[in-house]
Order: sequence, then C-alpha cells, then structure tokens
Amino acid sequence: MADFDGKIALVTGAGSGIGRAVAELYAQGGASVVVADINDAGGDETVTRIRAAGGQALFSHTDVTSASECEKLVQFVVEKWGRLDIACNNAGISGESNQTADYSLEGWNQVISTNLTGIFYCLRYEISAMLEHGYGVIVNMSSVLGKVAFASSAAYVAAKHGVIGLTRTAAVEYARLGIRVNAVGPSFIKTPMIGVGDDGELPYPYKLLASQHPIGRLGEAGEVAELVAWLSSDRASYITGAFYPVDGGYLAR
Ligand code: NAI
Repeated sequence: MADFDGKIALVTGAGSGIGRAVAELYAQGGASVVVADINDAGGDETVTRIRAAGGQALFSHTDVTSASECEKLVQFVVEKWGRLDIACNNAGISGESNQTADYSLEGWNQVISTNLTGIFYCLRYEISAMLEHGYGVIVNMSSVLGKVAFASSAAYVAAKHGVIGLTRTAAVEYARLGIRVNAVGPSFIKTPMIGVGDDGELPYPYKLLASQHPIGRLGEAGEVAELVAWLSSDRASYITGAFYPVDGGYLAR
C-alpha cells in the first residue's frame, strides 16, 4: 500500500503506544513523518524504527500543553519538508484517578491542558499551514470515554468528550477548504498508558475490563493505527466531522 506516497505527516505523542504505531503506518505508506513527543528517548526510538524499515522520519521535542511549541512543531515540518498534509493529534495522559469531588485542581488542569487544550493548539497551527495549499487531513485521538462515563476519571472523560466537539467544529468550518477532521475512539488498548509491561501482562483491573469488551480482550496499538491510517488516506475522502470507535464492541453493549 502506498496511500501516503509523497505526503508530509506529523504525529504527536509518537514516542510510544498508539502514536508510534500510527507514525510507523504513515511511514510504511510512503509519508515523511515528524514524530513529536516530550519523551526524547521514545521519540528517537520511533524515528530509528521507521528509518530501519526504510522510511523517513524526524523527531521534534514538543510539549502540546504549550501553544508556542505546537506552533514551532508545525513550522519545523514546513521548514523541513515544505508543507503539512496529515496530522494525528494523539498525545495524551490518563491523569489522576479520583471521584469528582476529590479530584485535585492541579490534576484537572494537567489532563485538560494535555488532552483537550493541546489538541486545540495543534489544530490551530496545523489548519493554518494546511490552508496554505488547500489540502489537509487531521485525526484527533478521543476515546470511548468521549462517549460514555468512567468513574474516577472526570478530567479524562470531559477532555475526550471535548475532543469530539472540537473535531466536529473544525470539520464544518474547513470542509469546503480541502481539510477533513475526524476523531477516533479506542477502548482500552495495551500500551504503557494503562500500565502494560514489556511482558504484555495486564495489571488489575484491566483483566476485568477486558471481559467487558464483547470481543473478549483489550486492543493493540496497531489496531487503532489501522483506523487512523485509513481515515488519513484519500480513500476516506468523503468522511469529515465523524467519530469512529475502535473498541472491540465496548460502546455497543
Ligand atoms: P502512551 O502513554 O503509550 O503514549 C502517549 C505518548 O504521549 C507518550 O509518548 C507521552 O510521552 C506523550 N505525551 C504525553 N504528554 C505529552 C505532552 N504534553 N506533549 C507531547 N507528548 C506528550 O499512551 P497511548 O495509550 O499510546 O495513548 C495515546 C492516545 O490514545 C492518548 O491520547 C490516549 O488518551 C488515547 N487513548 C488511549 C487508550 C488506551 O487504553 N491506551 C484508550 C483510548 C484513548
């Protein structure tokens, strides 16, 4: 498959988990990929893996909670490769686990600034760059928790619901200007975010959680990346403003 031949892409939070899988799939499809993360070691590893597989990648240390760093990220992409075609705004944290009345103010602000405001910052600069050449595809990382509640995760659930609203708004604003914006909603995926170790062993309570997925298991990062890659390709040319779960049936129950 060469869905992304000649395309220029960026992925935030690409130093681990789902973001790494997306960056690798974009590169496999022929895109030149900027890997953005606050974790330099993880980002470097993603770049190394992409290059070892024959792809093109560069790392940009970017903290998505900083508007100026998001602006610099997009500037870096355009300076290096001339334009920006595809962006996956994926960086995120799980954050504090506490009932709403006990949720700390710092914890709330940390999750909202990373998982929601960070996506707004990225969109702001990505869209401006894409408008320059009248083409762009953006996939924002929401969650099944953008659609339903999860106890002790007020900030995460609120941020992921917000990502869907932000996605829909940007989509309707720029649909006629060549830019598509969609959101995806993974359920529980085996990445470092949920504490899955190198041995792939699931910590409690995720064994219980796996049983709540009709498919009977948690997902793999690569299974989310497949959906993101398809939405990012021109094969999804009529799709914008949409939210797609990738959840082993979690939301269908
Ligand atoms: P992960 O922890 O493996 O990867 C997240 C990456 O984002 C890390 O490399 C981290 O350094 C980076 N990051 C964190 N804060 C950042 C910041 N301020 N600026 C730039 N980079 C930052 O987690 P995973 O699972 O790959 O998560 C990726 C996205 O998928 C997140 O938005 C998460 O909320 C979402 N998601 C994950 C699910 C899961 O069960 N793993 C389920 C649903 C959604």
